[in-house]
Amino acid sequence: MTPPIIRSLTDLRDQVTTWKRAGETVGVVPTMGALHQGHLSLVRAAEQDCDRVIVTIFVNPKQFNSPEDYEAYPRTEEDDARKLSSFRVDAVYVPDGPQMYPDGFATNISVAGITDGLCGAHRPGHFDGVATVVTKLFTQTMADSAYFGEKDYQQLQVVTRLAKDLDLPIEVVGCPTIREEDGLAMSSRNLLLSDRARIWAPELNRAMQDMAEGLLKGEDFNTLKAQATARIAAANFTEVEYLELRAADTLELMTQADRPARLLAAAWLAGVRLIDNIAVG
Ligand code: PAF
Repeated sequence: MTPPIIRSLTDLRDQVTTWKRAGETVGVVPTMGALHQGHLSLVRAAEQDCDRVIVTIFVNPKQFNSPEDYEAYPRTEEDDARKLSSFRVDAVYVPDGPQMYPDGFATNISVAGITDGLCGAHRPGHFDGVATVVTKLFTQTMADSAYFGEKDYQQLQVVTRLAKDLDLPIEVVGCPTIREEDGLAMSSRNLLLSDRARIWAPELNRAMQDMAEGLLKGEDFNTLKAQATARIAAANFTEVEYLELRAADTLELMTQADRPARLLAAAWLAGVRLIDNIAVG
């Protein structure tokens, strides 16, 4: 059976209040829909930890950099509900635009520092949009825990930071990236890839894996980066926005893998922006 869909905040609050009165814990999996195995792994983690599970689906206009990108984002609500039917999901919260941002909405949540580089540098305002909507989803669902994929590594750090800074009574749980067999990180944006581009796409991850190996052997960062960039370009990617080594916790820039680090990349393939990151050391 597909889980019940809740569209109004009042109904959501009534439902969660009933659960909480019964002493039940609530987990939330915030999504923008177009659910794939990556999202479903977050649902599985929430199921294991919590008595009640809410999946939210809201394509958040505030975190897109262009109206075209927002319009092109896949919307597959019926399919999503069907995919959730084999899980113990108690509610799918699907607010509409005015429910989230009513007339007169004027608040912006902005996390400084860790949003400066990487996606933050290339997508102005993106993390303000994410931080604002996630804060609302946390307070709307009153969840005890929230589940995010490591695939969006900078987002996970931003959300962890804001929950801590604002004393939000919620635990932010990061879950490993789920990959296709050929290594491509699962993403709703993969649906936008043509058949040919889909064949080229895993080269990003392969180049990153080899670069990580080189870094662990102590090879020079800039040489490895130049090799990886050339390889990604040879696989028909048109632009590598960034390919950087950063501290796993603070996202500080690094050039040597002498402490836990993350290699992070964003690159464009046939008009689709793909991101990936892997642990190094
Ligand atoms: O990762 C996403 O899908 C979105 O950024 C999120 C966390 C649901 C906020 O809109």
